[in-house]
Amino acid sequence: MAKKLGVLVHGAGWVSTQHISAYNNNPHTEVVAVSSRKRASAQARADEAGLQNVGIYTNYQRALQHPGVDIVCVCTPQRYHAKNTIAAAEAGKHVVIEKPIANSPVEMRAMQRAVKKAKVRTIVSFVLRWNPLFETLKSMMAEDTIGDVYYVETDYQHDIASWWTGWDEARKKRTGVSAFITGGCHAIDALRWFAGKGEFEAATPVEVFAYSGGFRKGLKKEFDYIANKWVDGLPLEYDDLEVALVKFSNGAVGKVSVNYGCIMPYTFPLEVFGNKGTIKDNKVWSHKYPGQNSWVEIPSILPDSADVSHHPFQGQMDHFVECIQKRKESHANLDDAIITHEVAFAALECYKTKKPVKLPLRKR
Ligand SMILES: NC(=O)c1ccc[n+]([C@@H]2O[C@H](COP(=O)([O-])OP(=O)(O)OC[C@H]3O[C@@H](n4cnc5c(N)ncnc54)[C@H](OP(=O)(O)O)[C@@H]3O)[C@@H](O)[C@H]2O)c1
Repeated sequence: MAKKLGVLVHGAGWVSTQHISAYNNNPHTEVVAVSSRKRASAQARADEAGLQNVGIYTNYQRALQHPGVDIVCVCTPQRYHAKNTIAAAEAGKHVVIEKPIANSPVEMRAMQRAVKKAKVRTIVSFVLRWNPLFETLKSMMAEDTIGDVYYVETDYQHDIASWWTGWDEARKKRTGVSAFITGGCHAIDALRWFAGKGEFEAATPVEVFAYSGGFRKGLKKEFDYIANKWVDGLPLEYDDLEVALVKFSNGAVGKVSVNYGCIMPYTFPLEVFGNKGTIKDNKVWSHKYPGQNSWVEIPSILPDSADVSHHPFQGQMDHFVECIQKRKESHANLDDAIITHEVAFAALECYKTKKPVKLPLRKR
């Protein structure tokens, strides 16, 4: 059997548990090192996963030099993603980049240059592309189940707050940037994914107009919807609601929102309208089912949990390993993720100019 690909997981927090477990389960990979700011965190992740003979580091550059590292998972808070990705690429490693990939378009382009120069493979954790319902719907769309898409709606509705270990980084303007960037980028990516008809095709946005609002910015309270009461909390430094209209190069129009103010459990509603049928979450109406008199319901795993253990990281990482082995680019690589993130940065530009923003963004 060929030598296994060695994995370094950097940033030993919540999401790293799933990267470690996915690479542990893949027969072609093994986690050989874990690094983090605190040694105890890296050690804890290694111990929980039962990793043996694994390198534990607090120095990222040293971790990159650990023998046998082929793939680096960047699982640190978002403000480090650009710097961590560039260092991994310069060390010649393939990179798994957690979303959001960067805090500015300038950072995104620096990452793109480093990856191109190093000729390494990348994948960005827009993990919902491997959600079983998403996979089923995309396969059906590719077989013309709803014809050509003309309208899509996706929404990231999540009362994200201090229960999240990453909250103190994400809630601040300087380190989190915006609601679309921190969490809503998942909905933007899904919007692109379902505006594209091909099974592995994401549509290309050409123009964005957006509004932001909500009520949580500056509020030192957060609602616990399970206890049904307000509790003290550290405030968001940006608007909790963003809504964008997106025009795509294939003629489709999309509406995407991120809503951190919603007082309810996490949901990720999805609507796709084609000229031969419609999708509403796991319900389908299609010209292919001439006898249907009610929605055809697909029994599947829906994108209805924010827990990382529910997210299909295994599918994402297995796909990435296959890309590395077969020397092919992932549909969810850095170049593609930049297109998704540009919608979020365009929304921010729109709040300033109050005008539609053309994509791709102008290089500054
Ligand atoms: N794709 C998805 O669906 C998904 C889901 C969840 C999160 N994420 C993304 O994943 C990233 C991490 O989120 P998380 O929930 O795992 O957050 P988290 O629990 O706060 O974990 C981040 C870890 O990074 C470490 N860290 C912080 N600063 C560091 C530094 N300068 N150098 C090295 N390590 C550092 C911290 O470890 P120490 O204990 O060592 O300080 C912390 O535990 C975020 O960008 C988030 O948006 C994506």
